Amino acid sequence: MTSAAPVVIVLAAGEGKRMKSATPKVLHRIAGRSLVGHVLEAAAAIEPAHLMVVVGHGRDEVVAHLDEIAPWADTVVQAEQHGTGHAVRLAVEALAAAGALGDGPIIVLSGDTPLLTGGTVNELLARHRDDGAAATLLSATVIEPDGYGRVVRDRDGWVDRIVEHRDADEATRAIDEINAGMYAFDPADLLPALGRLTTANDQGEEYLTDVIGLMREAGRPVAALRVPDSDEILGVNDRVQLAEAAALMRDRINRRWMLDGVSILDPASTWIDVDVDLAPDVTLLPQTSLLGPTSVASGARIGPGTTLSACEVGSDADVRHTWADLAVIGPGASIGPYSYLRPGTRIGAGAKVGAYVEMKNSSLGDGAKVPHLSYVGDAEIGEGTNIGAATVFVNYDGVEKHSTVVGRYVRIGSDTMLIAPLTVGDGAYTAAGSVVTDDVPPGAMAVGRARQRTIPGWVERRRAGSDSARAAAEALAESPPPVEEENR
Ligand code: UD1
Ligand code: CA
Repeated sequence: MTSAAPVVIVLAAGEGKRMKSATPKVLHRIAGRSLVGHVLEAAAAIEPAHLMVVVGHGRDEVVAHLDEIAPWADTVVQAEQHGTGHAVRLAVEALAAAGALGDGPIIVLSGDTPLLTGGTVNELLARHRDDGAAATLLSATVIEPDGYGRVVRDRDGWVDRIVEHRDADEATRAIDEINAGMYAFDPADLLPALGRLTTANDQGEEYLTDVIGLMREAGRPVAALRVPDSDEILGVNDRVQLAEAAALMRDRINRRWMLDGVSILDPASTWIDVDVDLAPDVTLLPQTSLLGPTSVASGARIGPGTTLSACEVGSDADVRHTWADLAVIGPGASIGPYSYLRPGTRIGAGAKVGAYVEMKNSSLGDGAKVPHLSYVGDAEIGEGTNIGAATVFVNYDGVEKHSTVVGRYVRIGSDTMLIAPLTVGDGAYTAAGSVVTDDVPPGAMAVGRARQRTIPGWVERRRAGSDSARAAAEALAESPPPVEEENR
């Protein structure tokens, strides 16, 4: 028994051939985190003194990713994959060379088991320390054990050996307790056993699992900790298992939020990434995805049909049928349906963004509104201002982007083109249909459109005999037009 700090080895050199992907298997993502990222998160629960990841296939990408998410992890290259035993041997050698191998336990995990929890890794370590075994492995009882190594126990319940499926006879294949491929080892037992591994098996590889039999031959006990929930050890080998793991992770995350006071109307269609933060009394409607480091404050309602990525949503906001990326939505704001908020959008308290509105790199003041069919780019809009339907902030001259400042309590008429760079002063108005090219001082009305010209009787003359002409004649017979004074 020892209480020296553990080291962790994560095996991630395999090709993941069955994924049929240009992306290395362990870099595929579920719930906004890579498969190997999930494993490292679970490993962090035991605060290992060192973490060594064995990389091989796609190692440049994998190493770059690890530098980003876990710069404290070390890596060792397994250029050719000669088996799990070979991989662990290289990792142990690298740890020893770095002076990182003490007498603390060596935990071996696989990079493709994203559902493993920190709690289970902790239990594995605790059980290993309690039993004082040479090795403690995680096992599970599964309905379809095909493909897995089987755990063969002796009469006292100790593990006698692991037999790989392809090397197993009928009787051994009937065993439904499988090896999860996650272990705690005593280094004093593991090192000599690794040195004695052979490749005398169906695949001609060094099997890590063979160290178990070797330890037993040396008279040392090996224990197995059976996990109650076999989902935890689900390995991702193809896209079907990737989807299964994603769904299980989704259920796990949703359940946790529901127990923390979040209403989720349709958990099966609600996807929440691991880094999301939700307050109690948030309501999530169907078909909603909250991605990246999104946070939602109390009382807000999100969805249906909404995707928020790295967004911050204030309390009591309402966000329906919206796609938003890197946007900040103020308390009590109303967004959607069918709004598109691009990076740098900041919506004030109680503000409104309505149907078919796209915003980018723009702020909308408290209580301000962009209710319908508008594009707002590179703009700053003051408090209480109303932007009429179908307004366009014309921010791009074909070469450069320019910005627009619209003051407080401004009324922008419908179908206004605001040609940036432009400033519209506080309390100013623009007439509907204007193309505004010059700055508008506070309180002024800007009219930038052609005056209307009305030509009476034009249809009767130029479209004689048409349905329009007939309708016009009928209307005129009933009420002749007033004599015109001035076009307005
Ligand atoms: C392994 C176990 C099996 C267990 C199963 C659980 C062995 C011999 N068998 O089988 O008992 O039931 O896991 O999922 O260990 N890897 C390397 N380098 C290598 C080979 C593998 O890094 O040379 C990595 C893989 O990328 C993977 C992990 O080790 O992350 C497991 O390897 P894999 O080939 O999937 O082992 P299984 O055949 O599934
Ligand atoms: Ca596997």
